[in-house]
Amino acid sequence: MTLEKAQDLLSQSANTVCFSGAGLSAESGIATFRDSETHALWSRYDPTELASPEGFSKHPKTVIDWYNWRRAAVAKAQPNPAHHALAAQPQMLQITQNVDDLLERAGCATENVVHLHGVINQDHCHRRCGHHEAVDMKEGSRQRKCPHCGGAMRPAVVWFGETLPEQDWARAQDHCQQTQCLLVIGTSAVVYPAASLIQYTKSHGGKVIIINTQASGASHLADVELIGPCGEILPQLLG
Ligand code: OAD
Repeated sequence: MTLEKAQDLLSQSANTVCFSGAGLSAESGIATFRDSETHALWSRYDPTELASPEGFSKHPKTVIDWYNWRRAAVAKAQPNPAHHALAAQPQMLQITQNVDDLLERAGCATENVVHLHGVINQDHCHRRCGHHEAVDMKEGSRQRKCPHCGGAMRPAVVWFGETLPEQDWARAQDHCQQTQCLLVIGTSAVVYPAASLIQYTKSHGGKVIIINTQASGASHLADVELIGPCGEILPQLLG
């Protein structure tokens, strides 16, 4: 019944947008950050040590090694049926908090994926001089200086206390305000400002469909909430 209601909402929407989080890649074997599962990253590691500018300044090698470990996990992972179901909808903008490239590897066009929290397959200059370098996902990267300005090179992801990439954030806000239906997949919806996108859609009159294995911080905003793994639900919903 709820699946049918979600299908109705999608069929009435001319410009559906997808907003995803770590749960989208969970069935590919990539750990989430917060979950009922004990292996969630932030129940095993301290985000202020590993995902903040202060942590990087204190012990850069530890931070780089941790990202190299996560890079190796992404390199081994394959897109799951949820990524493939989304990639089969080329008109649907993908706004993701995920730093992996599984949507792109499933076939989403690069220009159709907005990585709000950056990407793990690049390093950039911590001083923000604009220098970027691709990173070999199996080998990882090492502590080194920016060849342009001498700043420290670091993973090109957004850390706690940092602002989101300006153009990506503006594009995400714009689309979430205009969409008739936002498909929210596998996010705890507790990290801001990203989670506020769901509120933007709601307050501009758009519908919200949530797919998650459990209730989330955005459950109260859902027009339809589908509880279960997105790798099973999305192919049924979009197939
Ligand atoms: P979280 O780890 O906070 O939430 C993952 C959500 O996915 C949880 O609500 C799970 O219930 C759900 N989930 C798990 N497996 C699922 C599955 N198979 N199908 C559907 N849902 C599933 O991840 P995010 O919300 O993405 O930021 O976290 C937001 C940000 O917090 C991340 O981008 C990261 C983190 O700190 C930075 O690193 C800046």
